[in-house]
Amino acid sequence: MIDVLAFHDLVRRTRSVRRFHEEQPVDPKTLLELIDLARLSASGGNEQPLKYILSCAATMNARIFPCLSWAAYLKDWPGPREGERPAAYIVILGDTAIRAGCDRDLGIAAQSIMLGATAKGLGGCMLGSINRRELGRIIGPLRGLELLLVIALGTPREKVVIEPVGPDGDIRYWRDEHGVHHVPKRGLEDIIIASYPP
Ligand SMILES: Cc1cc2nc3c(=O)[nH]c(=O)nc-3n(C[C@H](O)[C@H](O)[C@H](O)COP(=O)(O)O)c2cc1C
Repeated sequence: MIDVLAFHDLVRRTRSVRRFHEEQPVDPKTLLELIDLARLSASGGNEQPLKYILSCAATMNARIFPCLSWAAYLKDWPGPREGERPAAYIVILGDTAIRAGCDRDLGIAAQSIMLGATAKGLGGCMLGSINRRELGRIIGPLRGLELLLVIALGTPREKVVIEPVGPDGDIRYWRDEHGVHHVPKRGLEDIIIASYPP
């Protein structure tokens, strides 16, 4: 049996990390192991429409990076600078010949990858804000494949902590003067609408 507290800790520690030790590589075997977690995850109708492109090559990474938009709430931060960029990427695609619209499968698979990354001492960030036209040009003809999400990966170079959402209800994350990234999360009492028994 898997220790429940350890699992809770894994979920809690699986935060979006946006600054990395770029010089610390992520090897192809690690990426395969992460994709295997996605492969084993639930899929509506078990159709398994998701496909993947993996990169841990510096030249390809350098081409993927400009296609991504980082941390929209951090207005004064243009994204990770050279040296703190991701060491690897997983591009998730939907095979429209299998199914059009893979959002639910996508979320499940992406979280499996993120949890696996944390368990391996890595950090990641899901990126949905993508210049799809440019990324499509870079990765080549996509014939029947829809670009859904990119997961950036690497050894974390920033601390991310969870905060309760304050009375003003502001859910925007922020970075403090020490570079710590704070993520407000709603409380259980705010998200459970009904419970039987109460
Ligand atoms: C579907 C999805 C798309 C996201 N797209 C981006 C993105 O384009 N850029 C980015 O910096 N973060 C992106 N994020 C990360 C969210 O900003 C992050 O999950 C949120 O701030 C909560 O932080 P946490 O992941 O540490 O709980 C995305 C997350 C999800 C689930």
